[in-house]
Amino acid sequence: MTGLEARTPLIIDTDPGIDDALAIMLAVASPEVEVLGMTAVAGNVGLDKTAPNLAALADLVGFAGPIGIGAAGPLWRQDTLPAWDVHGENGLGGYELPATERILEPALPLLARLIEGSERPVTVAAIGPLTNIAGLITHFPRAAARVARFVIMGGATLDRPGNTTPAAEFNIYYDPDAAARLFAFGSETGVPITMVGLNVTDHALVGPAHLPALFASDGPCAQMVGHIMANYATDRSGDGTAQHDAVALAAVIDPDILETRSLFVDVENIGRLTSGMTVVDHLGLSGNAPNCDVALSVDVARLRTLLNTRIAALDERLKEA
Ligand code: RIB
Ligand code: CA
Repeated sequence: MTGLEARTPLIIDTDPGIDDALAIMLAVASPEVEVLGMTAVAGNVGLDKTAPNLAALADLVGFAGPIGIGAAGPLWRQDTLPAWDVHGENGLGGYELPATERILEPALPLLARLIEGSERPVTVAAIGPLTNIAGLITHFPRAAARVARFVIMGGATLDRPGNTTPAAEFNIYYDPDAAARLFAFGSETGVPITMVGLNVTDHALVGPAHLPALFASDGPCAQMVGHIMANYATDRSGDGTAQHDAVALAAVIDPDILETRSLFVDVENIGRLTSGMTVVDHLGLSGNAPNCDVALSVDVARLRTLLNTRIAALDERLKEA
């Protein structure tokens, strides 16, 4: 059992979001991390859905910590759209969770309080657009500089550039200016960033066949995951659906699950055709020092095992609660 002192303090910033849901289940179920709080951001669907979805998911998985409500849209642009086609009108593939009684707090002060109040440096897993993260950097720079590592699901290397436009992955597409701010912050401060992009997550296909222990439990998580996998797919294939966000959380739980390389990354945020593209300097041609550990591959078998065993164990605990 992981001792409390060895658990990685973690905050999740998210836009739930069907793959966000599995990532949150995995994090709450894993003893390697201690989830201090979670914050909602607009992205997959509007904040009017992602915020209550996050609170309802926290209730579902038995998370008792604080939930923050963050940005209702990109920093300033008005030309990007949610992903209703992928996540459904309610953001959870139509799956209905009981409404929550929780009181949500403003996200940015919550992020700052949790980061500065932690005895050990906090990892921030950002699995939606980076608007809240840019807000933290702007309004709470001291807290942002104390972050142990930002682990983001977003962007991609050139071999898999986009899933929303030919050049852009959704989280970066939705608020490219916020993403550019994070990578610039990494260069300015040296705060570590791990970028888990489509070049890796598109291979992270998980289907019911990979989750036998989870579906044997028939618990609350299994019921929701079963609905999502049956009705909505981020990438439909015979092997299942791409669990983009779960890869980012798995990288916090088991960092060796990724192969990464330290490279310079910047974000195209003004291109007519390429806005939202993460430009990865594989050859060092920019002359800029690396600011990001870029994921190049993931151990998909290990991801499937983590999801299957951890969320099944969580369901067993929830059924007994
Ligand atoms: O491109 C995949 C990412 O966009 C995931 O975080 C998914 O939840 C959506 O937000
Ligand atoms: Ca997401």
